[in-house]
This record gives sequence, C-alpha cells and structure tokens, in this order.
Amino acid sequence: DETTARRKDAHLDLCATGDVEPAQNSTLLEHVHLIHCAMPELAADEVDLTTPFLGKSLRAPLLVTGMTGGTERAGVVNRDLALLAERHGLAFGVGSQRAMAEDASRTASYAVRDVAPTVALLGNIGLYQAIGMGVDGVRRLADAIGADGMALHLNAGQELTQPEGDRDFRGGYRVVEELARAFGERLLVKETGCGIGPDVARRLVELGVRNVDVSGLGGTSWVRVEQLRAAGPQAQVGAEFSGWGIPTAAAIASVRAAVGPEVRLVASGGVRGGLECAKVLALGADLAGMALPLFRAQQQGGFAGAEEALKVILTALRQALVLTGSRNVAELRRRPRVVSGALKDWLAAL
Ligand code: FNR
Repeated sequence: DETTARRKDAHLDLCATGDVEPAQNSTLLEHVHLIHCAMPELAADEVDLTTPFLGKSLRAPLLVTGMTGGTERAGVVNRDLALLAERHGLAFGVGSQRAMAEDASRTASYAVRDVAPTVALLGNIGLYQAIGMGVDGVRRLADAIGADGMALHLNAGQELTQPEGDRDFRGGYRVVEELARAFGERLLVKETGCGIGPDVARRLVELGVRNVDVSGLGGTSWVRVEQLRAAGPQAQVGAEFSGWGIPTAAAIASVRAAVGPEVRLVASGGVRGGLECAKVLALGADLAGMALPLFRAQQQGGFAGAEEALKVILTALRQALVLTGSRNVAELRRRPRVVSGALKDWLAAL
C-alpha cells in the first residue's frame, strides 16, 4: 500500500543525508592487519578476482546488497547500480519487494534486466513477509524481475524499533527450510546490519541454506534509521540499541569457522573500501557486500559518481592482493595476518 512506498522514500532520505552510521559502532576491521610483502613477484593485471556466484562468474567478488524499489526515485537507484554491476561484473540485489507484492504496478521500479541482462541478480523479501506469502509468492517475486536468486532478510532489531513493526518472531526456521528446499542454491539469507553469528548460521546451513550474508554491525544501522523516524519512548529505546549487533569482522570470521567451504559467505555491513574488502575476504568471505557507500555516490553523482567510487574500491582491492603477494583470494586467505584488540575478544567468545 501507499504507506510501504512512503516509508521507503523516507528511508532513502535518511540514508542519503542522515547520521545512519553511529560513530561509536565499528566493524572491528581496524583490528585486522594484512601483512606487507616487499617482493610480491606478480603484476597487478595478473591478480584474478573472478568469483562464482548464483551460477554465474563475477569479475570481482563484490555484491551491491539489496536496498530499494517501489517508487520512481528507487527505480532510478536500482537501474544505475544494476548497470554499474553489469558493466563491472559484480552481483546486484534489489531491495525489499514488499511494495510490489502489495501493488504490482510498482514492479517496474525493481525491473533492471533491460539495463543489466547478464548481472547476477538477487530479489529480496523479509522473512516475516515471506511467511505470509508462502513459497509460491516468493517465487513469483523472483520470476517477475528475472532474478537468479532470492535474498531473505532478517531484521528483528529494526522491526522492534519501528512503531508499526513486527513483535512476534516465531516460526522463522520453518519458513527458511521450505524456501531452502524450493530455491536450493538460489536462496541467500541476510541480516541488515546487526549480524548473523555462528549459531544461527549453523542452523541455517543445516536447513539447506547455501548463501549467507552476515551483514554485521559497523555500517548502516537500521535501528538508528528507525530511531530517527520514531518519537518518544520508541526513539529512546532505538537510541539505546543503535549500537546493537555482531561486528562484521567478528561475524564473518566466526561464521566461516562454523560452516563448511561449500557455503558461500558474503560480508556486508560497514565495508567501505577495497582494503576492507580484502580484509573480509581474508577472514573467510567469498564476496564483500556494500550498500550505503554506492547508494550515496549514486545520489550525489548519478551513475558516473557511483562508477567513480567503485573504481577506487576495485583498485584498492587489487592493490591489497598485490601487496600481500596474493594472486587470488584463495592465496590471500592462506597469508598470515594480525588480529588484535576487541576482535580477538569477540572471536574467543564466538
Ligand atoms: C538497505 N538494506 C536493505 N537490506 C535488505 O535486505 N532489504 C532492503 O530493502 C534494504 N534496504 C536498504 C536501503 C538502504 C538505503 C540501505 C543503505 C540499506 C541493508 C543493506 O542491504 C545492508 O545489509 C546494510 O545496509 C549493511 O551494509 P552497508 O550499508 O553498511 O554497506
């Protein structure tokens, strides 16, 4: 209905300009130190970043994680960033398709196949909306945009901070199991900035999930976004919880240790540059994921602005592999690294 779409545009306004990344939050990636190799013995052009994902081959291990759809403005964001992903061989996700499930006329704002015919494309729906629409409803959302896979998002922290949000989180695993059976390798389960830890990841994998985006703490905080929209007691609780979550570095390293190498892991949540991409890959991610930085670059400079930001990220990622003497991500993972400070404490507990 109208309110879903209006809420989406309010979210975009807040994310474009507001303080949605609380300064006290950290991914803890500052506690990961890759080690310099003074004699790399390789050429930058030799570094191989190709990565399989959703049955396709990416040219770089990067996912533009799902953000938006449902309004005209959202449609422009989707098309610019999908085109960017198509041109550079990244994966791309649309945002929650709830708005088009409620009103089919909004489908066009999620449709990117005309500008991104070959991109590895993810649809997106919230777990609790998926419960309502069932497997067939979710499949219809994926088919309507020609998606290669479907992202199922978890956002209990956001819902509890949203005055109109869900309060009952029972029955989630049962739905995940049904969706995993129906979608197989085409299902991805993601958080939205509070992180997936090893216990939840292990259970998801036991139910058949093969792609997980940990989406940890340290970047966009949806609790903060809802805090900024809320008033009164709700806003006060939101303020208290806007630093809640598992930092991205702790989430990705602990989840990789908990699940087998056949599980594709994405690390998003506060990943902001190519060196940080290299760090999450070294910690066990198959892909790095980013939302806010590319969204903001697009809002400020359109497609060209987003492309400029991406080029810096890709150059720095490649540079990190050269300077660690790594020809590819598999070699990067085998290099020694220093893990210091609070990240060590997190990993000792997880
Ligand atoms: C998001 N995110 C998101 N996730 C999701 O699964 N469905 C959605 O509809 C949205 N919407 C959305 C809008 C905007 C404007 C942003 C910035 C983000 C969450 C996103 O995919 C990602 O998990 C987190 O934002 C963490 O990554 P960053 O932003 O810190 O790079």
